[in-house]
Amino acid sequence: MQRIVILTGAGISAESGIRTFRDSNGLWEEHRIEDVATFEAWQRNPRLVIDFYNQRRKQLYEVKPNAGHKALVELEKAFDVRIITQNVDDLHEKAGSKHVMHLHGELKKVRSTVDDSLIYTLNGWEQKLGDLCEKGSQLRPHIVWFGEAVPMIEPAMALTSEADIFIVIGTSLNVYPAAGLVYHVKKTTPVFLIDPQAEMLAGVKNLKIIREPAGTRVPKLVKHLMDGQPIV
Ligand code: OAD
Repeated sequence: MQRIVILTGAGISAESGIRTFRDSNGLWEEHRIEDVATFEAWQRNPRLVIDFYNQRRKQLYEVKPNAGHKALVELEKAFDVRIITQNVDDLHEKAGSKHVMHLHGELKKVRSTVDDSLIYTLNGWEQKLGDLCEKGSQLRPHIVWFGEAVPMIEPAMALTSEADIFIVIGTSLNVYPAAGLVYHVKKTTPVFLIDPQAEMLAGVKNLKIIREPAGTRVPKLVKHLMDGQPIV
C-alpha cells in the first residue's frame, strides 16, 4: 500500500470556524502571541494563559470536522495515510482519521510542569489554576509554545522521508521546524500544496500548488488519488 503523509495547519480547520493565527494582524483571538503562547507568558500570568486555552478548548465542543478533514478519512480505504498536524484541535480525530501526530500539542490535554511524561486528558473544557499532577506540581496546557522544543519533530521527519505522496494543507509554512518538513521528502515523491495563499517553495521538486480552500479542494484531490488517476 502506498503511504501518503499529510501535513496540515490552521487552514484545514478554518472552514469549521476556527480562526487561523495569521489572519488578524498578528493577534490570536485578540491576544498577542507573547502574552499567551510562550513560557515567559506562563511564568508571568498563568491565569491569563490558562483562561486563553480554556476559551480555545471550549470552542472545540462547538465545532465539527469539515469536508476537508472527512475526505482524508476516505483516503484510508486505498492508502496508508499518516497525518502530521500543527493544529491543537481534534478535528482530524473527530472525523475518524486513524493516525494523527500532533506536532504542537493538543488542546484537550494538560501536562505536569515537573515531568513532561505525565500527560492527562481533561474532562471537559476547563482547566483551573491549582489543578495539580500526581507529583503535586501545577498542570500546564499540553501545547508547544513559541520558543519551546518540538519533541515530535524527529518522528515527523522520519515519516515524511517515507512518503510516496506528500500533501500539505492550509499552513503558511512560517513556523519552524514544522515548515522544514517539506524538505525531507524523497526527490521522487510528488508534493501537493493546497492553500489559497500558497507561495512557491524553492527547492521542492515535483510540487503542485493548488490555491483553493481545503473544504472543496481536498475532496477533489482525494477522489483523483482514489480513482488512480495519474499524478500531474
Ligand atoms: P497560519 O495561520 O500561519 O496559516 C494558515 C494558513 O491557512 C494560511 O496560509 C492561509 O492561507 C490558509 N488558509 C486559510 N483558510 C484556508 C482554507 N479554507 N483552506 C486552506 N487553507 C486556508 O497557521 P499555521 O501555518 O498552521 O503554533 O501556523 C503554524 C503554527 O503557528 C501553529 O501551529 C501555531 C501557530 O502560531 C503554535 O501554537 C506553536
